Amino acid sequence: MASIVSAVMSSVGRKILMSLTGLVMFGFVIGHMVGNLQLLTGGGDVFNRYAHFLIGLGGLLILAELVLLMSLLVHIWTAVNIVRGKRAARPVSYGKSGSAGAPSRKTFASSTMIYTGVLILVFLVIHIKSFKYGPAEAEGYVTTVDGVEMRDLHRLVIETFQQPEWVIGYAIAMIALGIHLSHAFWSAFQSLGLYHHRYTPIVYNVGRLLAFVIALGFFVIPIWIYYFGAA
Ligand code: HEM
Repeated sequence: MASIVSAVMSSVGRKILMSLTGLVMFGFVIGHMVGNLQLLTGGGDVFNRYAHFLIGLGGLLILAELVLLMSLLVHIWTAVNIVRGKRAARPVSYGKSGSAGAPSRKTFASSTMIYTGVLILVFLVIHIKSFKYGPAEAEGYVTTVDGVEMRDLHRLVIETFQQPEWVIGYAIAMIALGIHLSHAFWSAFQSLGLYHHRYTPIVYNVGRLLAFVIALGFFVIPIWIYYFGAA
């Protein structure tokens, strides 16, 4: 038991934990982005039916939420530990920073991970408070689809994105998300020891492309709703 704990606490162990939890959240954001695009393609009933279906999963949804929450907490804990470890090892920072060449790939994204991470965390707290725990049936956000009464989440999202301050806030958060993910995917494979001179450049480019698609997918939703309304 003690050896398992010390393996997890080692710097390699923490990096592995950070990668695995990051990949879990990466999977979630892809699913969440695809589901949310129904706001632009499906219409109110389709989106509300989808949200109601997820809530109807009951225990399974709670389990998924717990896995996500644990992943987020472990990810934050490892990030704080790694940053602290780096600061302790190098109390005076080098004046200059730049790429150390492959396979290092030091980029703007890699050197701002902690800042984009904090921004995403702040976004997440506000996002979950305003949508998941925002006004529901009791506050009049209720609709009936196929004879079933359910929460009108669609109305809440549309009303939120009719306010420019929310649209700007989301746009900034989505840019931070894109920058964070553009380094995260490749870095996770690297930390898991999955380096291959031929495949690593492919993983790197696929990661950057996925990050761009995810951030863009989320980014267009508030902007589209603000200018053109929802489907
Ligand atoms: C335009 C962008 C987005 C929209 C329209 C959106 C919409 C929503 C809505 C409506 C909910 C409430 C679902 C419910 O209560 O059933 C929700 C929950 C959530 N969102 Fe988003 N979201 C967006 C971006 C994001 C991003 C970028 C992330 C992560 C970085 C994220 C993470 C979450 C999480 C973790 C939950 C709680 C899930 C749960 O506990 O079941 N969202 N989102």
